[in-house]
Amino acid sequence: ADEPLVLGIETSCDETGIGIVRGHTLLANTIASSMEEHARFGGVVPEVASRAHLEAMTPTIESALATAGVKLTDIDAIAVTAGPGLAGALLVGVAAAKAYSLGLGVPLYGVNHLAAHVAVDQLEHGPLPKPCIALLVSGGHSSLLLVPDVSEDVISLGSTVDDAAGEAFDKVARVLGLPFPGGPHIDKAAVQGSGTAVAFPRGKIDDGTFDFSFSGLKTAVARWVEAREASGQSIHVPDVAASFQEAVVDVLTRKALQACKKYGVHDLLIGGGVAANSRLRALAQERCDKAGVRLRVPRPGLCTDNGAMVATLGSDLVAAGIAPSSLEIPADSSLPI
Ligand code: KG4
Ligand code: ZN
Repeated sequence: ADEPLVLGIETSCDETGIGIVRGHTLLANTIASSMEEHARFGGVVPEVASRAHLEAMTPTIESALATAGVKLTDIDAIAVTAGPGLAGALLVGVAAAKAYSLGLGVPLYGVNHLAAHVAVDQLEHGPLPKPCIALLVSGGHSSLLLVPDVSEDVISLGSTVDDAAGEAFDKVARVLGLPFPGGPHIDKAAVQGSGTAVAFPRGKIDDGTFDFSFSGLKTAVARWVEAREASGQSIHVPDVAASFQEAVVDVLTRKALQACKKYGVHDLLIGGGVAANSRLRALAQERCDKAGVRLRVPRPGLCTDNGAMVATLGSDLVAAGIAPSSLEIPADSSLPI
């Protein structure tokens, strides 16, 4: 009970996430999402997201405090996502965090969104083995990271050179006439299809890097569907969904395990919204078992953007005796890992 009570604020995309933790004990993880407002545009509209964060901030903090059964004045430290993400959206969270930090007289920790995605798994599976490899796949990022220690700097091994994995799911779903965000719909449709029905390209699969590329795959699916339609042939959506999905998760898991092998690491963590994908989980488990690697995937509510991940990393920084951020800390949309 002597561990500090940390409140985390996440506003890098469309989720206003407020998390409250004590050490690695989760007390609240409250989320207000503006996704419904974006759905009709087929993608997140930055200006709409910023405004929604502004409106949701105070009520979401109040709701999280009520869930945790604590008072604002009980909070010992504030952590906030400083980047990367949408500039205007980040700014709302960072400004709120500074105000609460100043008003309460408690330290402020500006944290990296990707490092927070890694840290959150500890709420579910306990301390992270170090080092570990983390594969972060969402609508905004696709990265392979080497994590020496949560309080040490995470090293980026590679990332997407074009679309993020979730973005590819969303764009292909659109081609197939499925709603936005399309990842869960493709996952569901794919269950009824065959992953080997169409041989779609696996970008950069054996190029010797830990980078990804999904835009060629997305285009290949669109061209394949167009060609079928032009020749009057029908499209079996589940087969196309399953074959596309197989191409994505084949590359993701293959590169993640290559990274484990190269760095002699025996623990793989998968996070981000795409970690909810059932085929990704199954293939990752299969390949990890074969390679003698332990797999950790947090439950879906901790995989997608949330405030608990920010609070968890903040809590680790406090515990490691890391100096807090200054009140001048900027919101940095392209903050490097
Ligand atoms: O982490 P997240 O909630 O937000 C960020 O983008 O940061 O991730 C959302 C992304 C969307 O692209 C969505 O389509 C994808 O995660 N996603 C999935 C699944 N569930 C969510 N992709 C594939 N299969 C799923 N089951
Ligand atoms: Zn994220």
